[in-house]
Amino acid sequence: MYNSTSFFLEFMAVRIIIGAQWGDEGKGKIVDLLSAETKYVVRYQGGANAGHTLKFDDKTIVLHLIPSGMFNGNAKCVIGNGVVIDPIALIEEIEEVKKLDVDLKDRLYISSSAHVILPYHKVLDQLKEKSRGKDAIGTTGRGIGPAYVSKVSRIGIRMIDLLNEEQLEEKIKSNLADINKALEHIYGEEKLDTKTIMASLREAISITKPFIHNTTEILHNALENSEPILLEGAQGSLLDVDHGTYPYVTSSSPTAGGACTGSGIPPLSITHALGITKAYCTRVGNGPFPTELDDEEGEKLRKNGQEFGATTGRPRRCGWLDLVALKYAVRLNGMNELALTKLDVLDDFETIKVCTHYIKDGNETHVFPLDADDVDELKPVYKTFPGWNRSTRDISSFSDLPEKAQEYIHFIEDFIGVKFTIVSTGPKRNETIRR
Ligand code: IMP
Repeated sequence: MYNSTSFFLEFMAVRIIIGAQWGDEGKGKIVDLLSAETKYVVRYQGGANAGHTLKFDDKTIVLHLIPSGMFNGNAKCVIGNGVVIDPIALIEEIEEVKKLDVDLKDRLYISSSAHVILPYHKVLDQLKEKSRGKDAIGTTGRGIGPAYVSKVSRIGIRMIDLLNEEQLEEKIKSNLADINKALEHIYGEEKLDTKTIMASLREAISITKPFIHNTTEILHNALENSEPILLEGAQGSLLDVDHGTYPYVTSSSPTAGGACTGSGIPPLSITHALGITKAYCTRVGNGPFPTELDDEEGEKLRKNGQEFGATTGRPRRCGWLDLVALKYAVRLNGMNELALTKLDVLDDFETIKVCTHYIKDGNETHVFPLDADDVDELKPVYKTFPGWNRSTRDISSFSDLPEKAQEYIHFIEDFIGVKFTIVSTGPKRNETIRR
């Protein structure tokens, strides 16, 4: 029940949805769920490296660039300035969405300032990864890092450039001069050609043109009219280029600050930061993962949770919930609400563990390690819970959860100091507890 004050707050809510782990926390489902209660859903960083899976009715769709707010209610969906857009991936996705009978007119808005991923970014991403050998980051190969390099080097192509093909061709030609030197002389690869790239872009340009806008202005007007906004993060806090496990990170800022720079929404307008965490941990790609399980229990988490990448199909690394890492993400983002996803994956475990701290050099530590080398010396210390051995699938009221599952959730809340306002017990909208 709303009282008048909470209704007012909810009405003007500007809520960031942020992954509290290494991505794949189930943000897509939560954004889809909450999008019926908002006017705008805004993706603010990353690109088609993300894979946000939505299941509703008998349909499943994986979105990579289009915000997850298209299918529940009528929110306007904005691809913000902080996103890097592969126009060819985008038009494929537009087609997929249209097949589900969604009319994108007046629903999809693409920032004119968002940067474009070009074929050379993808080629460079894949070649650089290969050259790293055993130190590979495990990127998705979608050109994300090189596109952000172009952006900060001030040689990037932006969506607004697609509106002037003559100038676009000139800019691509100028960029290729350097890139081709690298392709030929560093990697021993074939040169790329401006005309071929232009030809590959033409269809995408004509389809995306009507959706390109000054989205900062649109969002500022929404704020002035006190309209609720949902900001949809991709990847997760521990993959943040500044605050994650560098260099095993993505090249953008999934954390709360990135939501402001990636949309043009000022920090003081943000009212809620909702962190999404699985009831266990996963990571795809290389890099530190203190609670990783290399045994039967890890395999069982992967099997129960169907832990295979939504974008690349790679098997995800699995392990127990790391409360040191979760607390770090909560502090980093100022999360004032949490959502717990995939609780049902733990239903048939005899015992369930959570890491409460680590031992390093014989001493207790409660600090999440940011340096890859530090992690090798860390030993996670666990608290063990008895499993509930009952299906939680489909349960939509907290009091209907097995008592042991309630105890597990309460322990995490007390440890972190933030409440789970949402508990997800399956991939579909109705398999959700709201508190
Ligand atoms: P990139 O973002 O493709 O450059 O990849 C950098 C790192 O981030 C790799 O370890 C990827 O596996 C990881 N990564 C990128 N996007 C996602 C995602 O959406 N979920 C989980 N991991 C991701």
